[in-house]
Amino acid sequence: MPEILYFGPGCPGDDISLSAERASRINGMDVSVPSAVLLPVGGLGFFGWPALAGHRNGRDFLLNVQDWQVERTTMGVVLRGRDRVAAIAVAFELAIHDCGVVATAVSVTNHGTETYTLDRCMAATMAVGDGPAVLTSLSGMWGREFRLSSEPLGRGLWMQESRRGRTSHDRFPGLFLTSGRTTYAIHVGASGNHQLAVDLLDDGCRLVHGGELFEPGEVLLEAGQSYHSPQAYLTASFEGVDGAASRLRAVVDKSILDWPDVTARPRPVTFNTWEGSYFDHRLDALKAQAEVAAELGVERFVLDDGWFGRRDDDTSSLGDWSVDHRKYPSGLGPLIDHVIGLGMEFGLWFEPEMVSPDSDLYRAHPDWALGIAGRPRPLSRHQLVLDLTRQDVSDYLFDRIDAVLEGQRISYVKWDMNRDLTNAGGVDGRAVTASQTRALHALMERVRKRHPAVEIESCASGGGRANYGVLRHTHRIWTSDCTDALERLEIQRGATHFFPPSILGAHISGSPNHQTGRRHSLAFRAVVALAYHLGVELDPLTLAPDERRELAQWISLHKRLRPLLHASGASFAGDPVDGRYVWGAAMPDRIALFVAQGPTMLAEQPPPLRVAVPQATARSWRIAAVHPAAPAFIRVSSGQQALLAGDSDFSLDTLRHAGLALPMLRPESGVILEIEPV
Ligand code: GLA
Repeated sequence: MPEILYFGPGCPGDDISLSAERASRINGMDVSVPSAVLLPVGGLGFFGWPALAGHRNGRDFLLNVQDWQVERTTMGVVLRGRDRVAAIAVAFELAIHDCGVVATAVSVTNHGTETYTLDRCMAATMAVGDGPAVLTSLSGMWGREFRLSSEPLGRGLWMQESRRGRTSHDRFPGLFLTSGRTTYAIHVGASGNHQLAVDLLDDGCRLVHGGELFEPGEVLLEAGQSYHSPQAYLTASFEGVDGAASRLRAVVDKSILDWPDVTARPRPVTFNTWEGSYFDHRLDALKAQAEVAAELGVERFVLDDGWFGRRDDDTSSLGDWSVDHRKYPSGLGPLIDHVIGLGMEFGLWFEPEMVSPDSDLYRAHPDWALGIAGRPRPLSRHQLVLDLTRQDVSDYLFDRIDAVLEGQRISYVKWDMNRDLTNAGGVDGRAVTASQTRALHALMERVRKRHPAVEIESCASGGGRANYGVLRHTHRIWTSDCTDALERLEIQRGATHFFPPSILGAHISGSPNHQTGRRHSLAFRAVVALAYHLGVELDPLTLAPDERRELAQWISLHKRLRPLLHASGASFAGDPVDGRYVWGAAMPDRIALFVAQGPTMLAEQPPPLRVAVPQATARSWRIAAVHPAAPAFIRVSSGQQALLAGDSDFSLDTLRHAGLALPMLRPESGVILEIEPV
């Protein structure tokens, strides 16, 4: 297999001498075998974790791919090799993006006459330098996804496997690995089961692998058939996890979000009906909410769950994608017209992959749900998953979604997915998760082709389906079902390690918060949401006049700062220090700096605020505006007053290294500083 000579910034180029074979031999083997190879397989005399594995009814249980050919492509290379004994061909595609991210994908083709069972095929293998290494990954649960944690790597194999049939809340398909002065990152752009492995080699280096995870016998390649992996994304930086994360955000902005019409226009401020109305859809109330939303400055009104079938709670109607005429006697038209008449776009919630046992669809087609004959089908949120790999199911869903969108001025779909896949067996009783997720992407693509002006949000009970694969068909991610601003500090910080703020939905919701019961000031809720794809998710009719005024001001501030906050490559974030979180965006001529305090500070004096702002060029800067006008600071000295009033200049080196003497904030409060060149 091709050897990885070096992976990282500052690649030495052609002079890296590499024709010389390694002198050492492993465990006395008579041939020297390189261990840092792309897709190591057992057939090499390689004793580590194989990245490719399969068999033909027990035979051809190892591969030795040879006869490699190199084909140059516009963005990289395709390496093709063959194992003539096993009659298996492998193609490794590699594309290099300008922002320093490498995208890879692997295909395996069966050239034999008998079925080949593909047990494993990683989409990427990356070599990491030797020595101690610290691994940073994202874990969590529903309502608390994207939780960053770091651990030193030991000598064993580190493995993460996710079997939920979606990227999941608990095991995000990506990680950072810091070894020596380099931080490496990998992300698998897949919506289904995945596997990440970090394997220690004999020379102390490590191989990091990422790809799909298959159930036993899930991928059978008949004669002539191929498996195509999802794409994986790799990068490395000398600027730590933040440096690697900013490259990943850049690849999303520049290469994954293939929506020129969308990047060209600002992300519309969204109003979502879920937490304000839940299943209680009353046309008059919704119209009145829309009126207030428009006055607040909202640009898109999204009608969430509850508009179809007879869906008065979460126990019924998924699959029956026609308007509930009890709630909307003349269809959705009057509400859509009203919303559009107020100057907003209209969006609608769907959960296409699901079916409620209490639905007309299920009564007519109980066999359309995934399951294993003879076994119960476990319900989750009272629902089952449809088998999208069946053409009739996929056609039905396309037709239903098309019928709702057709002729209506709907420009946005919130595409939800509220349960894990379990017992995911298809018609022939074999596992289908890998093909189900491909069928999902194909269905999204079909809807997009038919309705190119419709944007799609990827939601799975919040951020349960967030990955670069689904982002090729969608426009934003619902970051989390938890809208509590305190929780969101960590959730959003974690999510921005892989996604730019412009595509992460962040809503200002009611107080007390519906998930945690915490009460927060409107200012804190707004500061925490404002840098992302901003939304409002509460019943605006319940707001007092002064709250309406304040909310309108925050929305207007967001709109003013949005070109900076959502500019490609502008965003930054630091590690929290003593419960104080810092994030924002910088351009050569202005900086928006967000500071929020989670728990009470331990330090009697706040540590200087240091921020690794990128890009900005001017020599002298000052604070030009502070939002809210009276932040919840504790003890402000006269010098700090002068700083906040814009009377003290500072250099960016001060901001980066020495730090600003910002006063301490009360717990669960925040401030936005607009910083400009003097
Ligand atoms: C999921 C979503 C929520 C909301 C509900 C509706 O939980 O994440 O935002 O749409 O479904 O049932």
